[in-house]
Amino acid sequence: MMIRRMTENDIDAVLELKAGEFQPAWNRDMLMSELKDNPFAQAYVLTKNDKIIGFLDFWITFETAQLANIAIETNRQRQGLGSLLMNEMLEICDKEMCEMISLEVHVNNQTAISFYEHYGFIKASLRKGYYEDGCDAHLMIKPLGGNYV
Ligand SMILES: CC(C)(COP(=O)(O)OP(=O)(O)OC[C@H]1O[C@@H](n2cnc3c(N)ncnc32)[C@H](O)[C@@H]1OP(=O)(O)O)[C@@H](O)C(=O)NCCC(=O)NCCS
Repeated sequence: MMIRRMTENDIDAVLELKAGEFQPAWNRDMLMSELKDNPFAQAYVLTKNDKIIGFLDFWITFETAQLANIAIETNRQRQGLGSLLMNEMLEICDKEMCEMISLEVHVNNQTAISFYEHYGFIKASLRKGYYEDGCDAHLMIKPLGGNYV
C-alpha cells in the first residue's frame, strides 16, 4: 500500500475508481485543473500493487484546509484505507499549522458522516441546496490547533 502525489498520468485510473452512490462527482477537466491550475490543491492516490484504490484531494489556503474529495474503491471500504488517507492529510495540515479543516457532505451519506465523526469533525451548519440535484450538505469542521500544536 502506498500513498503518493497524483499526476496527470493517473487521471484515467482515478476516473475509473468506483466508490459507490455518494462518490463525489469529479471529471477530467476538474482533475486536470486541480493538478495544473489550482496552486492550493493537493491530490494524492492510494495504490496497491500499482493499482489506484483510493483518492484524496484537499486544499490548504493559508491557515484553513478544505477536504474536496476522499474516496476508497467500494469493495475495499471499511478496512482502514480511508484512514490512511485521512491521517496523511491531517499530518500535512499539522505541518502547515492549519487552524481548522472543513468539508461538505451529502446529508444522506451516513457512511462518510460516521467516518468524519470518527475523526472528530462536527456538523457546523446545513448548506441548503448545495448539490446540483437540490440536496443539502452538512458543513463539517474540525479544529486542528494551528500554532498551539
Ligand atoms: C468515506 C470513506 C472514504 C471512508 O473510507 P474507509 O476506508 O471505508 O474508512 P475506514 O475503514 O478507514 O473507517 C474508519 C472509521 O470510520 C468509521 N466508518 C467508516 N465506514 C463506516 C460505516 N460504513 N459505518 C459506520 N462507521 C464507519 C468507523 O468509525 C471506522 O472505524 P472502525 O472500522 O474501526 O469502526 C469511504 O466510505 C468512501 O470512499 N465512501 C464513498 C465516497 C464518499 O462518500 N466520500 C466522501 C464524500 S464527502
